[in-house]
Amino acid sequence: MPVETIRWSDGQLTIIDQTQLPGTHTRITLANIDDVWGAIKQLKVRGAPAIGVCAAFGVVVALKARVNDLQNVAAATQEAADYLATSRPTAVNLFWALDRMRRRAESLPPSSTCEEGLAALEKEAVAIFEEDRALCRAIGEHGAALIEEGAGILTHCNAGALATSDYGTALATMYVAADRGRQFHVYADETRPLLQGARLTAWELTDAGIPVTVICDNMAAQVMREGRISMVIVGADRIAANGDVANKIGTYGLAVLAKAHGIPFYVAAPSSTFDLSIQSGEDIPIEQRDAEEVRNGFGRRTAPEAADVYNPAFDVTPAELIAGIVTEHGILIPPYTESIQRHLAE
Ligand code: MRU
Repeated sequence: MPVETIRWSDGQLTIIDQTQLPGTHTRITLANIDDVWGAIKQLKVRGAPAIGVCAAFGVVVALKARVNDLQNVAAATQEAADYLATSRPTAVNLFWALDRMRRRAESLPPSSTCEEGLAALEKEAVAIFEEDRALCRAIGEHGAALIEEGAGILTHCNAGALATSDYGTALATMYVAADRGRQFHVYADETRPLLQGARLTAWELTDAGIPVTVICDNMAAQVMREGRISMVIVGADRIAANGDVANKIGTYGLAVLAKAHGIPFYVAAPSSTFDLSIQSGEDIPIEQRDAEEVRNGFGRRTAPEAADVYNPAFDVTPAELIAGIVTEHGILIPPYTESIQRHLAE
């Protein structure tokens, strides 16, 4: 069983506080919309699909808090969704999930009571959550075929159970391959500055009994050169219509290194991560995060206070560096402009 990153039970939203991992495994309650906004902003819950699911439940949390003076469910949903949409800019799953909640609210019959509206929105959030679980499994089933016996797999950041409602995306391929008895070894980039690879991916994989070695981000080229890596697979935060992929900062560099070493580079993502309104990666908004994440890593001075810092949280990998994109429907291959259109029409 994968870890329960997000739990909706008896009308309460709880999450694993990922900022405390791997030292402390603790659940926190998100009791109001500000808690949900803050948890997303501070990466207590993170990873594109998980952010979307959490925000959908966040809308329900906001409506429940106002149930006694709720005049207009659609207007209150719009207000909550608009606010939650300001938490992080890059992962399109956030906006996709909030749009679904808005559309559901707008489709309520005019005669419905507030209680009925609230029940319908709760059902929609649960549906987004359940669908995400099914998508993870399907991505895992398709992607597992890429993992050969004895493979050495490099991954970046965390695209596992902690980033979704179930098996994850990139890590789902590994969980399913392991379930099928395949032997392989994972190298997890530590993923500076917030160490999602070292803290989260290594935690998940060791817990699942999958062999994993943590490497610092600047070791990837050497590890490839030593012949330890036969494939790279990562998740995605937003995929443009031409197949350019935004993912955690450092992903682009890995794709360039993989090409230089003749190693296939794959991306795994559900359809909610594709954004056809954006033609190429150049138009994907890239989140800029607080300089203190770099200057003051985990409570210790890691660069002089007076030093300027540039801290983009994501980068864009051009489609031509990507050998395939694993989705719930199968593995998309170039030319992506066509294969993505076909996939989203399914
Ligand atoms: O800043 P984060 O930790 O939210 O970044 C997460 C990633 O970049 C993941 O690779 C991506 O969201 C895919 S998760 C299935």
